[in-house]
Amino acid sequence: MPATRQGATGAVISGWGIALPDKVVTNQDLEATLDTSDEWIVTRTGIRERRIGGSTVSLSVSSGQAALDLAGVTPDRIDALVVATTTPDRQWGTAPMIQDQLGLRCGAYELNAACSGFVYALVNAHGLIAMGAERVLVIGTDTLSRITDWDDRATAPLFADASGAVVLESVDGRGQLLGWDLDADGSASELLWATVGGTINMEGKEVFRRAVRIMMDSAEKSMRHAGITADDLSLIVPHQANIRIIQAACERLGVDMERAAVTIDHTGNTSSASIPVALAEALDDGRVKTGDHILLVGFGGGMTAASAVLRWGGTS
Ligand code: ACO
Repeated sequence: MPATRQGATGAVISGWGIALPDKVVTNQDLEATLDTSDEWIVTRTGIRERRIGGSTVSLSVSSGQAALDLAGVTPDRIDALVVATTTPDRQWGTAPMIQDQLGLRCGAYELNAACSGFVYALVNAHGLIAMGAERVLVIGTDTLSRITDWDDRATAPLFADASGAVVLESVDGRGQLLGWDLDADGSASELLWATVGGTINMEGKEVFRRAVRIMMDSAEKSMRHAGITADDLSLIVPHQANIRIIQAACERLGVDMERAAVTIDHTGNTSSASIPVALAEALDDGRVKTGDHILLVGFGGGMTAASAVLRWGGTS
């Protein structure tokens, strides 16, 4: 049931925050250790620098606290914590550690859908609110530098660390989520994978080829359920994997790049964090006003895909 039910309790994002590690690794830094060049990385990916460092818990606590502060919500008023991550600090219990350090007193769990994880978690959180939760903290965090082979020039320039968080609050009526889609195609799982404790393996060209298609399929479903077309979108917040994928997606949607949120130049691919970080930067830059339609759309290992159409500010 991918469209939101009319009359169900809806939700709006009332606060957001991001956390980026302090350490900046530029393409020039990578030139010193890999057979690569700034020119190759920028042309093929759009990445100029990325942030490396921190743990999934420490970054999540920073972004989560910032989101709570902006929302003006004290920790005791949060009813659930959902942490999207593909790089938990431990086999289990990463979300509860974040819960403890933020001073929350509620259920807390990880959700892993690779780079689609934040949108999966956001939809999940809307479900909790439809079932009675009043406020849910949703965090997307990844520390991909810990599972990157820094001697592999095919993957090392791409991946990095970051966290983004939102506070979701219940409202009467439909709320902000007009349509959503969660998708997966396990037959493509060998294109992008990592064993537990291992490093990222990727068939880059094939991932690239499929990424645009599965993102577009998902986006079209969400927009159809929301009853809008791409012309109605004020902002597209795509997963930040490669600037050429973002450009191709915009082209397929018939939307100019001005309407896309792009952070990849300074963040690289931060998986579960990429969409909330790009959304938060767009919000902080004043790019969103009440009533705007926003499309969040991601794809990732699995292969998974997910999208959501939000009308900013919610609606009755
Ligand atoms: N520096 C210099 N040369 C390089 C580098 C590098 N860092 N990496 C590869 N090359 C070389 C290759 O060896 C190859 O050389 P050859 O022609 O002599 O064989 C050449 O550059 C072209 O390599 P390709 O892999 O064909 O390059 P491509 O244009 O496909 O770009 C890239 C590679 C950037 C990985 C691209 O395929 C891509 O972005 N794919 C999508 C990846 C993606 O989105 N992954 C994230 C998924 S999200 C998640 O769940 C984690």
